[in-house]
Amino acid sequence: MSGGRTMPVLPVEAYTSQAWFDREQARIFSRTWAFAGLAEDVAEPGGYVAVQAGLNNIFIVMGRDRRLRAFHNVCRHRGTQLLRAVGKAQKAITCPYHDWTYDLEGRLIAVPNRETEFPDLDAACLGLKPAAVDRWRGMLWVHPDSNAGSIMDWFGEVEPLLGPHRVDELVEYAEAGTSTDIAANWKIVVENYIDGYHLAHLHAGTLAMYDHSRIESGFVGPHFAFWEPAAVDYRKGIERNAALPLIDHVSRDRIGAWVPMLFPGIGLAADEGSWSVYHVTPLAPALTRVVTRTKVANASGWAFTWQAVRSAGYWASRIRGKFAGDAAGDPLASGDFMAEDVYACEQQQKSLRSPYFEHGPSSRRGEAGVRRHQALVREWVEGGA
Ligand SMILES: [Fe+2]
Repeated sequence: MSGGRTMPVLPVEAYTSQAWFDREQARIFSRTWAFAGLAEDVAEPGGYVAVQAGLNNIFIVMGRDRRLRAFHNVCRHRGTQLLRAVGKAQKAITCPYHDWTYDLEGRLIAVPNRETEFPDLDAACLGLKPAAVDRWRGMLWVHPDSNAGSIMDWFGEVEPLLGPHRVDELVEYAEAGTSTDIAANWKIVVENYIDGYHLAHLHAGTLAMYDHSRIESGFVGPHFAFWEPAAVDYRKGIERNAALPLIDHVSRDRIGAWVPMLFPGIGLAADEGSWSVYHVTPLAPALTRVVTRTKVANASGWAFTWQAVRSAGYWASRIRGKFAGDAAGDPLASGDFMAEDVYACEQQQKSLRSPYFEHGPSSRRGEAGVRRHQALVREWVEGGA
């Protein structure tokens, strides 16, 4: 074994056991700001979105006063979930079980057969339990505790390192985004995201347009910041090489990729042509859902087509799989860096089951963020954070 500084800090059980998973749900995901969607998901009075934040299901709804409010998504009668997924134009919120109905401010306003069934009911005590909600950088966020305070107390320190993208001005590239279930613990997915050491190797054929020798990264409080410049040849021909129309407010002097990971498990990825959120949700000790949503410049369809045509030569000459082979059937031959990452994560998770598995040494610089994340998780799970 090498020195303690470069050994991983979590035991194998942290990635495999239900007990660890349950503690993380209670102590991390139920006590932090959770990503709930893009600002435009709840744009009109009566519009709503529901999200799981650790042990809590929470919905955000816009009132007739156009204010956003968040409530625990639980009927005060028997606890049935009130709202599902995303929706529009509710005038009131009615529980499907017994039709108890709440207004958009969370007050209980109707109980069927109230006089006969609940002669003593005090509706004023049975309003929906509030949660905290905020908009930040074009995104919606909720916190289970309505007294969570300002979201800037949580994100303020890392914000200057997140890049110049004005998310509200960009438009969504594909309405629904993508959703991928990965057969690995959520921490393996996050560790892969913040591991700078693998970029030049696993992604040698898929992320070669960046200069991985000039990464600027590190933790700011609980959040990981990351920027790396584009490779010289890509940057010099950026007008022609960019796959998407350039975002006008991203400076040509700082062409590169901002890829922070906000705690716990909300990755952002942004460059000169796009902005994405990479939302990691733990489903089980060895199962993680990643939902991505991507926004791009508000340009015409023609502009997208023209940019794809003129950049095609650059990308055709650069992108290749890690291995030669069946691009459709083998993630390592796919030429898709996300598929390469999913493959690596799932392979690690499988190996954890072997009685012969032990964590090897961790690289001093490239995996420093991985160790810091592991230490953070341990601090939160042990209850100190
Ligand atoms: Fe990767």
